[in-house]
Amino acid sequence: MRIDTAQLLKRFFFAERSLLVSEAAWIPAIAPLDIKTNLARYVWQSAETANSLRERVFELRFPSRMMEDEGNDRALIAIFDAVRDSPSVPAFLLSVGTVLLPAMRNAYQSYLQASDLIADGPTHRFLTLAVREKTEQISGFDRWIEAARSENLEVWSEAAAWTDEVAQRMSAVGGVRAESPGPSLPAERLPGARPYSIPAHPARDRRFWPCRFYWPDIVDPSYPYGEGMQLQLRSAISHLNEVWAVEAGGVILSAFADVLPWEWISNSARWTYDESRHCRMGYERLMAWKLDPSWIPLGTYIYESATTVDARDIPLNLLGMLFFFETKNIRHKPERARLFHSYGDSLSEHDMDFDWADETLHASYGKRWLKELLAIRGRDPAAYEEVRKNCEQLVNDYVRTRTPAEVAALRSAADLLINKAKQLR
Ligand SMILES: [Fe+2]
Ligand SMILES: [Fe+2]
Repeated sequence: MRIDTAQLLKRFFFAERSLLVSEAAWIPAIAPLDIKTNLARYVWQSAETANSLRERVFELRFPSRMMEDEGNDRALIAIFDAVRDSPSVPAFLLSVGTVLLPAMRNAYQSYLQASDLIADGPTHRFLTLAVREKTEQISGFDRWIEAARSENLEVWSEAAAWTDEVAQRMSAVGGVRAESPGPSLPAERLPGARPYSIPAHPARDRRFWPCRFYWPDIVDPSYPYGEGMQLQLRSAISHLNEVWAVEAGGVILSAFADVLPWEWISNSARWTYDESRHCRMGYERLMAWKLDPSWIPLGTYIYESATTVDARDIPLNLLGMLFFFETKNIRHKPERARLFHSYGDSLSEHDMDFDWADETLHASYGKRWLKELLAIRGRDPAAYEEVRKNCEQLVNDYVRTRTPAEVAALRSAADLLINKAKQLR
């Protein structure tokens, strides 16, 4: 019946919401680039599904626009939330990949089998897509779990115990697809939980050349940005290093999820996903040039400027940092796309052009949500410009911590890469 259906879809909404907030929060802690960028995509897929679920619940309850809290599903959503406090990366991957995601996929499948295609046609359309996405997400997690399993066996036995606990609690409340909400469990922390905190240092994929500053012009303004091949290379390196923006997007999504309205989650999920596409653009470009990842600098300085120079308000710093870099670089992009066109490099041109369109959207997200956040905190919304300036200052302060040895190593790494690029292309 209509009201039961709305109840069930509301449960699915809260499950997707909790899942995506956790996935977003964990992006900086997980090293492999493939996981970071795909997690960002899954976050966005979940946000799109959650959006459709939310709209559908409103429709079914028309004319009420109220979407109250988890209600009867509190115990179930508490289990989803608990996974945010996973004790390690393997524990997080294992509990999401083998408990939460299969529970959701199964629930959607049985919903589609039990419900009426005619009366509930609008739900069928987006939930059919959600089943396909969940199936893909599960195989992604399976792959990552398999790849990581060979390492650190001690952590894996802890991860298995953690995942068993999550699975047991899930079945105690009747899972996601139960007809009626299960018994409410006392809200207690899962054994072995480690309260989530924002990583001060982002984990980096070990295949790349690890550094803080990823190109000499960052620490030495006299170093040319370059033209021709050097500009193509520099631009691809910039794109790859937007991995910091994927991490920042994930952290701020989760940090403000309970402070700002749902639309924030929807916007920042898209933002995080877009940055993961920019990062992939750089990665694919560099791989197409057959450059070895171990020659390619992958830095941390922008993320760390927000987390280590001034740790008082890391989420606000990261949001401000995104806004600062979006607005700082955007004016160069159409010109660079034109230059790539003149070099006959249509791939770089195409990447830069699509990137520009995304960044224009992001600059508006940054301004809008910084203003809303400041207003909520009782500050003048116009102070968003101050936040931006403060972030510029934080980056400048961080850049000043460079050491001569670090700069020398960076110059050699850049020289090596430029030479390899000349030889290979
Ligand atoms: Fe970007
Ligand atoms: Fe952006």
